[in-house]
Amino acid sequence: MTNEFLDANEHDEDTFVELSLRPQTLKQYIGQDKVKEQLEIFIEAAKIREESLDHVLLFGPPGLGKTTMAFVIANELGVGLKQTSGPAIEKPGDLVALLNELEPGDVLFIDEIHRMPMNVEEILYSAMEDFYIDIMLGSGDGSRSVHLELPPFTLIGATTRAGMLSNPLRARFGISAHMEYYEVSDLKEIVMRTSDIFDMEITDDGALEIALRSRGTPRIANRLLKRVRDYAQIKGEGVIEKEITDRALTMLDVDRAGLDYVDQKILRTMIEMYSGGPVGLGTLAVNIAEERDTVEDMYEPYLIQQGFLIRTRQGRKATKLAYEHLGIPYFEND
Ligand code: ADE
Repeated sequence: MTNEFLDANEHDEDTFVELSLRPQTLKQYIGQDKVKEQLEIFIEAAKIREESLDHVLLFGPPGLGKTTMAFVIANELGVGLKQTSGPAIEKPGDLVALLNELEPGDVLFIDEIHRMPMNVEEILYSAMEDFYIDIMLGSGDGSRSVHLELPPFTLIGATTRAGMLSNPLRARFGISAHMEYYEVSDLKEIVMRTSDIFDMEITDDGALEIALRSRGTPRIANRLLKRVRDYAQIKGEGVIEKEITDRALTMLDVDRAGLDYVDQKILRTMIEMYSGGPVGLGTLAVNIAEERDTVEDMYEPYLIQQGFLIRTRQGRKATKLAYEHLGIPYFEND
């Protein structure tokens, strides 16, 4: 069983809640200081010159607030935002329709931009660089090319892996921002902010415990918070404090390091079935019954960042720390 309550890719359950939670300004946005510092300057400069902001590429693992950041940027610029995603744009006409609706200075936000079909991506090149598109209407002898001028606009693209973007597309983004896993102190502040918005009773160490066990990811922190609130309401006095949080998270298979069921399964599989590795990503994904992309985008980066897993040319290897964390004896083998 995977623990779907913790899946940072799940949007539907609480899209509304997430929307109402979203910070509106860079000042309200907690964490990602480096990204905010840069954007603040570029946004201010574009506004003073009365130009559209240069195109922005946001990359980082799911759940770190890339979409939120896109909305914040549009809000700070004082412009409209149109939102779509790479897989949703199936054919050139879909993109042309979106571009055609843009007002001067607007933001077009494309999530999962690495998953756009190639013939759609190619239209973006001239749109981004010189604000025009040439489209073919009809086919065969009756076909003709139509030139369409666009208003200046800002494309904000979000992707989980920078390496998956083609070079011509990547080269057209003037601003690249790498979203990092959040500091515990920032996650704690986010948990406090959410509790405040929803009138939850939470102690300082309760918020810290959730922050420590949220895999550096606000979306997970907010989701865990809601589950812990349920638990506290039924099993405790309704107050989210450290002990009740620990019990709730243990019930949810979130361990002391914040690793969830799938994280633990990845490490256990590597150690118990492949003597700690090296093991190929595809093999690993099959063994734990997850998509290869999910493992690579969502689980692996955090395990690497926390020092539980390393990538080698031969494949993935579990580290000594992973053995220690799972309580499995480690033997040096080279
Ligand atoms: N809610 C979720 N992520 C947030 C962030 N980075 N800042 C403020 N509130 C948030």
